[in-house]
Amino acid sequence: MTKKSILVARAVFPEVLERLTQHFEVESNQADTIWPREEFIRRLQGKSGVFTTGGERIDADLLKACPDLKICANMAVGYNNFDVPAMTAAGVLATNAPDVLTETTADMGFALLMATARRVSESEAYLRAGQWTKWSYDMFTGTDIHGSTLGILGMGRIGRAIAKRGGHGFGMNVIYHNRSRLAPELEAQVNAKYVSKTDLFKQADHIVLVLPYSAENHHTVAAAEIALMKPTSTLINIGRGGLIDENALAVALQANKILGAGLDVFEGEPKVNPALTALKNVVLTPHIGSATVPTRQAMANLAADNLIAYLTQGQAKTPLNTL
Ligand code: GLV
Repeated sequence: MTKKSILVARAVFPEVLERLTQHFEVESNQADTIWPREEFIRRLQGKSGVFTTGGERIDADLLKACPDLKICANMAVGYNNFDVPAMTAAGVLATNAPDVLTETTADMGFALLMATARRVSESEAYLRAGQWTKWSYDMFTGTDIHGSTLGILGMGRIGRAIAKRGGHGFGMNVIYHNRSRLAPELEAQVNAKYVSKTDLFKQADHIVLVLPYSAENHHTVAAAEIALMKPTSTLINIGRGGLIDENALAVALQANKILGAGLDVFEGEPKVNPALTALKNVVLTPHIGSATVPTRQAMANLAADNLIAYLTQGQAKTPLNTL
């Protein structure tokens, strides 16, 4: 039987590529070139599947131009790069990479929270610049994490893993808001209290955004929400950049309306709003929420599993749509 052809849109672990080549004719991109869209579409011609990494937009126009495509496998849990209804209409399966990155991403949420609340980046930059000449009682005073109120916006798997860290590890009082309230047994497991979005912004000492991004929650945190926050509070985003109105956040940080922000994701990434990079009270990381070797390997293998299982047996492991 002739092998089906697939495209791997970005560089990936060689061993994962090797697994894929056992099943498919593989066109890869180990040079990790960011292909212009026309080139991506051209390379997709004759391909039954594509391995994407979250940055490649799959929409109705692309699907129309790529009639051979049967599956798009994202090496990411977020899939806002996929127009899933358009994919369903075109008979193309969408898969993502859930679960395998939950704990690692929750760790990163906590890393950003702690770095922001305790001003780690700002004080390190001061030290490296040779400005540290004496100890003083109010030098880089931040805000406490232990015993404070943690507000989680978006209580999916990662939100719940963050709630456990906060409640069990740091004795935090955990409140959350989500599109739908958790089932009582799940709520009890994470010991978190459901509140309105407004109460979350008013009551929390630290807010972590972990909800999936869609057009409906674009700028779900804008000037009005930030205005509700305590002056000693922090805002952490490990979801998607579009959840926050970055200009409104920059204005608030500039005026010290909140203590600080920790951001791993950005609206125009990899470009970062210069209004943010100009500020000291924001910790900025380049979308590394799931970036540990074992987790990235597990994500890549799950995307590969989906391609192999669907194109050879008609059944994917983590489908997002039903055809
Ligand atoms: C990363 O942002 C992911 O969605 O996996």
